[in-house]
Amino acid sequence: MTVTEGVDDVSRETLPIESEKAADALDRVSREVQEGDVADIPAAGADTPLAQAVAADTRKRMTLAGRELPRPAQTRVLTVANQKGGVGKTTTTVNVAAALAQAGATVLVIDLDPQGNASTALGIDHHAEVPSIYDVLVDGDPLSTVVQPCPDVPGLFCAPATIDLAGAEIELVSLVARETRLQRAVSKYVTELTEQGQALDYVFIDCPPSLGLLTVNAFVAGSEVFIPIQCEYYALEGLSQLLKNIELIRDHLNPNLHVSTILLTMFDGRTRLSAQVADEVRSHFPDQTLKASVPRSVRISEAPSHGQTVMTYDPNSSGALSYLEAASEMAAQNAAENSEDRS
Ligand SMILES: Nc1ncnc2c1ncn2[C@@H]1O[C@H](COP(=O)(O)OP(=O)(O)OP(=O)(O)O)[C@@H](O)[C@H]1O
Ligand SMILES: [Mg+2]
Repeated sequence: MTVTEGVDDVSRETLPIESEKAADALDRVSREVQEGDVADIPAAGADTPLAQAVAADTRKRMTLAGRELPRPAQTRVLTVANQKGGVGKTTTTVNVAAALAQAGATVLVIDLDPQGNASTALGIDHHAEVPSIYDVLVDGDPLSTVVQPCPDVPGLFCAPATIDLAGAEIELVSLVARETRLQRAVSKYVTELTEQGQALDYVFIDCPPSLGLLTVNAFVAGSEVFIPIQCEYYALEGLSQLLKNIELIRDHLNPNLHVSTILLTMFDGRTRLSAQVADEVRSHFPDQTLKASVPRSVRISEAPSHGQTVMTYDPNSSGALSYLEAASEMAAQNAAENSEDRS
């Protein structure tokens, strides 16, 4: 049956079309629809957006899944920050970390947000009595006493955050070396592991949506800043404030700090807005912005409620494949830097 079949009968019988002219016009329209528009409806072949998306996912799966990625020569410490809330900091942290661990790296996620979302997503117990990053920052406990292995992904570890961390922002103010406490703990931990003959490849620090002392500690602890940017209207607002703060930290506390990586998250290919935000970010930060972008995906948002990353919850979903693509770009970027250093 064609789309216009039956139009004639229904219209002539049910609508009060009396005039010959109107009936003729209706005939003409239905003929035009039949001859023109129907031919324009694309066949469900390779040109439909759905088929293109399926083909792109298949290509990513075939080229990336199950591959070992190059590991960095030294531990890379990345602070995942953006003072805007809900842009995908935690989602990006846990999924990129899981993707790298699945590809053979040893990865530590430090949950520096009192909400403890990263700990939840990694399936790590973080009720009030669990030793946590609070004990490291405020009491000076070694990082090794709080780190737990992630149950689903070998090679992935987490220093959890408990609700205690909510008070740390104020408690840190009166402590000595309040900005460098995390940096000391991380470098001691890396040295300890190296002495035991174990390499830690990546440390990701998941920051809260603010630029307080917790985030300052994270900026001092690592040299790389990883900024997830949500492809929405207000995405770039506040980015200049973040960049100013990074500059201040570089001038006063950590001369090596730089924005190394930007990832576009919650990208919706159907809207012009997403494409505009993506273009603008890429034109401002051509070297830092990853080619991979993460689409809005139900599977990504469902995974944390199962205490999992999307990398184990649904590894073949488009969300998991994008995070795998992002992780492989990061690893390649790093391999290129290593070979530049050697030459
Ligand atoms: N690509 C995506 N598709 C669908 N939902 C997503 C995606 N990325 C993140 N989300 C959802 O958006 C919400 C915010 O994400 P997330 O918690 O990672 O942001 P955040 O920047 O860490 O937030 P906060 O500033 O509160 O720490 C969560 O509910 C998450 O599941
Ligand atoms: Mg978060």
